[in-house]
Amino acid sequence: MNRSFCVAPMMRRTDRHFRFLCSLFSKEAILFTEMVHANAINRNSPDRFLSNIKVSNPTVLQLGGSNPEELGKATLASNAYDYSEINLNLGCPSPKVQSGNFGAILMKDVLTVKNCLQEMMVSTNKEVTVKIRLGVDDYDTENYLDNFIYELSKVGVKTFYVHARIALLKGLGPKDNRTIPPLNYERVLRLNSDFKNLDFIVNGGISNFHNVKKHFKDLKGIMVGREVYENPIKLMDVDKIYYNSRKMPKDLFQIVDEMFHYISSLDNKKDQETSKHHMINLFKGLVNAKKARILLLNEKNNQILKKNLMGILNENLIRAA
Ligand SMILES: Cc1cc2nc3c(=O)[nH]c(=O)nc-3n(C[C@H](O)[C@H](O)[C@H](O)COP(=O)(O)O)c2cc1C
Repeated sequence: MNRSFCVAPMMRRTDRHFRFLCSLFSKEAILFTEMVHANAINRNSPDRFLSNIKVSNPTVLQLGGSNPEELGKATLASNAYDYSEINLNLGCPSPKVQSGNFGAILMKDVLTVKNCLQEMMVSTNKEVTVKIRLGVDDYDTENYLDNFIYELSKVGVKTFYVHARIALLKGLGPKDNRTIPPLNYERVLRLNSDFKNLDFIVNGGISNFHNVKKHFKDLKGIMVGREVYENPIKLMDVDKIYYNSRKMPKDLFQIVDEMFHYISSLDNKKDQETSKHHMINLFKGLVNAKKARILLLNEKNNQILKKNLMGILNENLIRAA
């Protein structure tokens, strides 16, 4: 799997509708699901949380949990779906996740993490990977991180997605934990040169997809979250920059058209509304972006909506000419 460019897992963002939108811009980027707790899969119909869309992009299912049996069972259920890899979330700092004893807090308990990963690995033939932080609270030394990675590698983890900052579980909410602890890319580069047999993908604060390629050339790839959601159009260059593709990317007219085809294939109104919501940022920076946003949130007739959005794109084309 070529992990040169990965779209990060994001709750309430990277659902299958947004992943479909991403797939229209890039055929190659690795797409992560939102985190799904193992028991959400185990206690419901697995389809509800695992049903995927048909895209050419490899898709990674991210699981949350800290009970090895539950994670193993959820991993087993996921075998029936076309995910390319199963990832364990070891980086989420939210208080709710902490109180459930999963996410970032698990970085303090390497033994439990190893047990979880072993159970996941025996439940699937797919690669099992982790998404980590550089540290959690005062579990933040180079020694601690090295030992954590070494221990996970001993059970067979080869690929580490690293959000390049620590998480502070007391006093900072999830949003602050994505901005306040400083980014430290050098620590990820150091890991990469010290653990030559392991693969590292760097994550956090990346907004210019062109410029960072050189800086991170020794890593297996980069992972981007917020910038992709807020400016999905930036994905347009990803196949060219990161996968040497010579194909012409689709323009916004084609993307909007294909999104409406997709929306018309959804029989559930809520799914349709969510898909439309994900389209708002396609219009960011354009003339009449606000009008597009209001339409996408309020216009219920999809034909009228599409016609108006195409009108806005046309208007921008004329002005740019
Ligand atoms: C709204 C939102 C939801 C997120 N949900 C998850 C999640 O489910 N699993 C996870 O590992 N990280 C989650 N993250 C963290 C991102 O994957 C990523 O590590 C973080 O945003 C830093 O990358 P960025 O600066 O490119 O956004 C979330 C981030 C945001 C903004």
